[in-house]
Amino acid sequence: MGKALDGVRILDFTHVQSGPTCTQLLAWFGADVIKVERAGAGDITREQLRDIPDVDSLYFTMLNHNKRSVTIDTKHPEGKQVLEALIQKCDVLVENFAPGALDRMGFTWERIQELNPRMIVASVKGFGPGPYEDCKVYENVAQCAGGAASTTGFDDGPPVVTGAQIGDSGTGLHLALGIVTALYQRTQTGRGQRVLAAMQDGVLNLCRVKLRDQQRLERTGVMKEYPQYPNGTFGEAVPRAGNASGGGQPGWILKCKGWETDPNAYIYFITQAPVWVKICNVIGKEEWATDPDYATPAARLPRLKEIFAEIERWTMTKTKFEAMQILNKYDIPCGPILSMKEIAEEPSLRKTGTIVEVDHPTRGKYLTVGNPIKLSDSPTEVTRSPLLGEHTDEVMAELGYSPEQISALRTAGAI
Ligand code: COA
Repeated sequence: MGKALDGVRILDFTHVQSGPTCTQLLAWFGADVIKVERAGAGDITREQLRDIPDVDSLYFTMLNHNKRSVTIDTKHPEGKQVLEALIQKCDVLVENFAPGALDRMGFTWERIQELNPRMIVASVKGFGPGPYEDCKVYENVAQCAGGAASTTGFDDGPPVVTGAQIGDSGTGLHLALGIVTALYQRTQTGRGQRVLAAMQDGVLNLCRVKLRDQQRLERTGVMKEYPQYPNGTFGEAVPRAGNASGGGQPGWILKCKGWETDPNAYIYFITQAPVWVKICNVIGKEEWATDPDYATPAARLPRLKEIFAEIERWTMTKTKFEAMQILNKYDIPCGPILSMKEIAEEPSLRKTGTIVEVDHPTRGKYLTVGNPIKLSDSPTEVTRSPLLGEHTDEVMAELGYSPEQISALRTAGAI
């Protein structure tokens, strides 16, 4: 079976996390992703957070599956010529260098257009145009600048960043969508274009509900589903909401059996209005179903703390999996807090290819997250990440270089 992006060639100038997440997705959809790295060193993540000496780290291997690696010194005059040949052959150039690095290398948008007018140039940057556009940005900088940190955590504590890499992987996802959209438009116009995904913008897009709440707060001075209501105070900006739900159905994280020793013996419980009567029955508070102080969502809002404390008395008598089973029988929405260990061992995730075991020549077997997006006509086969420069000769030959020329370029230090 073919792949959705068969025939699309990506010149992958990405490093660290944000850009590589994007090009890995494109590779999983069938694009030929040629990762250009600096000779001798490569993507800095190859050596970051290593668990085995001198072996590509999990950080690198888990972000660079299904790609080919070529090493080119793009500041060497002859290295630049090789890069020009690649630009002429590829459909998309993806990069996430610090602002201006591609220009300093001599590859401005205008120059790239001269070489290949169909080329799509896709970039991740920390910020879009504005006061911070020249700043270097990493994951947590984006989480802080995009509104995630100020709205995450508890009211009486400092801002908190999330474990989900919404700044890096989140922006990589945004960029991938921009690239396939530009490829689609190119089928009509025949032209390439620039695609920019700024990390601040990507995080803010994922924090859309918090900008919604900012405006609600400004209009009404209070947000009744937040834990600050009714006893706390609201300031001028959206406060940290603890574990409250971002939607219209109140929710909270509750202890389950074993919470004293297991840090993940918890369940997320949503008091969804249509199943309120069932919730009352399950927890043994049948009287709340008709009591006017509890029977309607509006009546419950000032009493959420007391209500969740009562529900927790019930969840503490069950393990998170027992609670999940019972509650789902009644369509009561809930979610067990799963540890990474539990997720890694979950058979259904292995079966769907969301968790995959990959073999690597120097590392051996390891687990990775496979393609979370499943296409029925373009199945994903996850293959290992490339060793540094593993495909230099192969790609050079495809560009038309003879073995003698390749050897001369290597001696000159261009590749
Ligand atoms: N051959 C020769 N030089 C190369 C090269 C190659 N194959 N590949 C990269 N370089 C050079 C670049 O041209 C640049 O040189 P210059 O500074 O002289 O112009 C240099 O390597 C370093 O690139 P840079 O992107 O500045 O790396 P950094 O380690 O200093 O910064 C980031 C890292 C992530 C902070 C920065 O790249 C950035 O802000 N990127 C955009 C936002 C982003 O993606 N952040 C998330 C990372 S997960």
